Amino acid sequence: MSTPGTARPLTSRRAQPLSGTADIPGDKSVSHRALIFGAMAVGETVVTGLLEGEDVLDTAKAMRALGAEVRRDADGTWRINGVGTGGFSEPEDVLDHGNAGTGCRLVMGAVATHGFATTFTGDASLRARPMGRILDPLALFGARAVGRSGGRLPLTLIGTGDPVPVEYTLPMPSAQVKSAVLLAGLNAPGRTTVIEPEATRDHTERMLRGFGAELTIEDGAQGRVIALTGQPELTPCTIAVPRDPSSAAFPVVAALLVEGSDITVPGVSRNPTRDGLYRTLLEMGADIAFENEREEGGEPVADLRVRGSALRGVEVPSERAASMIDEYPVLAVAAAFAEGATVMRGVGELRVKESDRIAAMEAGLNANGVVTASTEDSLTVEGRGADGVEGGAQVATHLDHRIAMSFLVMGMASANPVLIDDARPVATSFPNFTTLMGSLGADFA
Ligand code: S3P
Repeated sequence: MSTPGTARPLTSRRAQPLSGTADIPGDKSVSHRALIFGAMAVGETVVTGLLEGEDVLDTAKAMRALGAEVRRDADGTWRINGVGTGGFSEPEDVLDHGNAGTGCRLVMGAVATHGFATTFTGDASLRARPMGRILDPLALFGARAVGRSGGRLPLTLIGTGDPVPVEYTLPMPSAQVKSAVLLAGLNAPGRTTVIEPEATRDHTERMLRGFGAELTIEDGAQGRVIALTGQPELTPCTIAVPRDPSSAAFPVVAALLVEGSDITVPGVSRNPTRDGLYRTLLEMGADIAFENEREEGGEPVADLRVRGSALRGVEVPSERAASMIDEYPVLAVAAAFAEGATVMRGVGELRVKESDRIAAMEAGLNANGVVTASTEDSLTVEGRGADGVEGGAQVATHLDHRIAMSFLVMGMASANPVLIDDARPVATSFPNFTTLMGSLGADFA
């Protein structure tokens, strides 16, 4: 669904110490995959804790359009009756993935090895994002695409009914590309292999195994080699979606920045392919305790206890980028309140997210009195110390939920209020963000 209505500005004012419990919604990456794999299994998959954000709801619609039955019980449990591997049918209309790069790209993979055409579109942000990175490997299976210049949406993907298996080395660290290739490989005969020089989030691999696919993962000289045996019968699963560490990052950073805060964030995924922000915050001097470490829904989780902390700037190495790629905007805010500079390297992928996040963060930080520097793939933030951020300016969010939430967090600890031009995109990944932050003590109006 494309962002409806007119822009909704929102102001964030300096907050009193935060307290209470932050119940974070389900993980977005896991939620998309639960719906897609459920739709490709034979029988009923039951999902609890699904993120009911716009991005994921658009994936649910896409699965229905491709022939799966997807319904929600009154208590929030989702039930998916799948069509089996290779069982999708041609959608009657265009699939509109709204703001969701992940939903769109994963579904492209899933339909690429079916013998029909699917037309994809999305909002202005998604229509500006590069799809060639997905279309190139899908062409190796035999799929073709016709779209706008630069492989941009809207585009029509003409799937192949006679796919061949593929071996593909990822040219960039992208779990979306990896997952699209594996999803296409599900309906190709023989073994499809993806080689990732740098490990990216592994939810697709975990879920493929959970649904009964034959998958091997080896660490070799070229990186991780993931091999999938095609055309399995996927058996349905019961999935408890863990809470999203990328969403948890916002109240966590807010509690660190607002002096005297003490909050608990229960059940957050600690998947090592997603925990780079937390490792970085600890290096910066954050007071975060990981309590009750356990396994839920096939993912390691913990309850986080977070207290207000004085932070210091650090160097974030490029090897860590894939494990925290969505968290750099809020890390840049934390860095603004640290003593000394924070240097983030190897972050070129930020330029092709929901917005060019390096440019969007620099513009917003600079307007609010924080000095930054950047290259094509790095960002440096000159910290101003715990009480040093002026604020007082309006920030352009460019239809990017994480830019919007990051600057609302910044306003909570700045001397003057921070205004964002549009809070609507927040609903794509964190629908209850403003109420939840308000319940902890944020002042958004
Ligand atoms: C995602 C992968 C990442 C991330 C996105 C979710 C996924 O994108 O930024 O929010 O669920 O696979 P890339 O694969 O483009 O790095």
